[in-house]
Amino acid sequence: MKTKKIFLPESEIPRQWYNINADLPTPMEPPLHPGTGQPVGPDDLSPIFPMPLIEQEVSQERWIDIPEEVLEKYLIWRPSPLYRALSLEKFLDTPAKIYFKNEGVSPAGSHKPNTAIPQAYYNKISGTKRITTETGAGQWGSALAFSCALFGLECKVFMVKVSYYQKPYRRMMMETWGGTCIPSPSSETEAGRKILAENPDTPGSLGIAISEAVEAAVMDEHTKYSLGSVLNHVMLHQTIIGLETQKQMAIAGDYPDVIIGCAGGGSNFAGLCLPFVHDKINGRDIDIIAVEPTSCPTLTRGPFSYDFGDTCQMTPLLPMHTLGHTFVPEGIHAGGLRYHGMAPIVSQLLLDNLIRAEAIPQMETFKAGINFAKTEGFIGAPETNHAVAATIREALKAKEEGKEKVILFNWSGHGLVDMAAYDAYLSGKLSDHVLADGEIERALSDIAPLPKPKQFKG
Ligand SMILES: Cc1ncc(COP(=O)(O)O)c(C=O)c1O
Repeated sequence: MKTKKIFLPESEIPRQWYNINADLPTPMEPPLHPGTGQPVGPDDLSPIFPMPLIEQEVSQERWIDIPEEVLEKYLIWRPSPLYRALSLEKFLDTPAKIYFKNEGVSPAGSHKPNTAIPQAYYNKISGTKRITTETGAGQWGSALAFSCALFGLECKVFMVKVSYYQKPYRRMMMETWGGTCIPSPSSETEAGRKILAENPDTPGSLGIAISEAVEAAVMDEHTKYSLGSVLNHVMLHQTIIGLETQKQMAIAGDYPDVIIGCAGGGSNFAGLCLPFVHDKINGRDIDIIAVEPTSCPTLTRGPFSYDFGDTCQMTPLLPMHTLGHTFVPEGIHAGGLRYHGMAPIVSQLLLDNLIRAEAIPQMETFKAGINFAKTEGFIGAPETNHAVAATIREALKAKEEGKEKVILFNWSGHGLVDMAAYDAYLSGKLSDHVLADGEIERALSDIAPLPKPKQFKG
């Protein structure tokens, strides 16, 4: 009988995160102050983030110790199991070996607590009383509410309006962990009121919700803001995924030829692949693929430029692939992939050809998710199904080429709170959305006056 699950004992949990900034072939350009256009310093960030996280954001140390208090909480569900998708392989009749890292086993149901827990911890030891954040599908908001509960912090979540109504159970999860969740745009902030006055029927977007959460944090000295993706310290915390996987692949006696993750802001993709990118920089041949929706094609169709992380231009300007901070993606069910920007680290890796990107339409992702559920049993989040769809494409390619490739992907979260999305798909209510060039050009005209990075690619 072939091995199905590869477990790592608790004693083998990685005790350090991996910081790719120490190894990037092309150093990243600095974030710029939204007002002055000058590189931001720690003092500019201190109204929104606690100092230990700011230090991690700019750190060049290759390895950063995971505090004992964080490890203790990680042990609630980590190390997460690595699975061999034997039934999916059989269904596809592929010579490829397919492995997936199951990040859906966390209490919140996704990879998001990997960074929510250290962020809550560093805020707690820095004296923060309350944390604000945004959430798309609700995965991040629930992860942060869970983590704040563990460290005795208040948590306030601005949830993108379209998802707030599509996914009421996520709000209930946040409330169960003691958090507060309101639909964004809201009338509680100046940013929200401005957007509502201009467009009362907006479905909302992550960019708008970030503006609201940042504003709510800067208005109160005991409140800080927390971001669930995009920033360097978030990518750092998520490397626990790839570091565990490297040990588990060694136990399985395999090494991946192809690595796949879906990418919204880039964190679960980066979390799995960064330790392997380190190997690639040192000579390993690995095809590493970030997968995004065709209706929000940040990496495949967006330029590499400086842009704001939020719609109302409150965050620093980040060097990244972007569709423009005013871009409001179609209300697809993969709410966590509806973000106009991308992590600067992931953007830089794409520029340096260390990774590549693929966009997949919504219908193909649901079909893939359902085939995965029927073979492997697990029902994935709509975001996660993008990685499943790309994996199926690669496994079928291996079949055509007759190659026994090893494919590894990140199963970033379960979809048990997303069943309305499956219902819409199964009852024929979903369709593919093709994004017209004009829509992207319109959103990009807003970033034309902004400073350009040295590697600007239009
Ligand atoms: C299950 C799941 N996967 C993926 C994502 C995309 O985020 P990221 O690219 O930061 O991993 C999200 C975001 O909410 C998510 O909930």
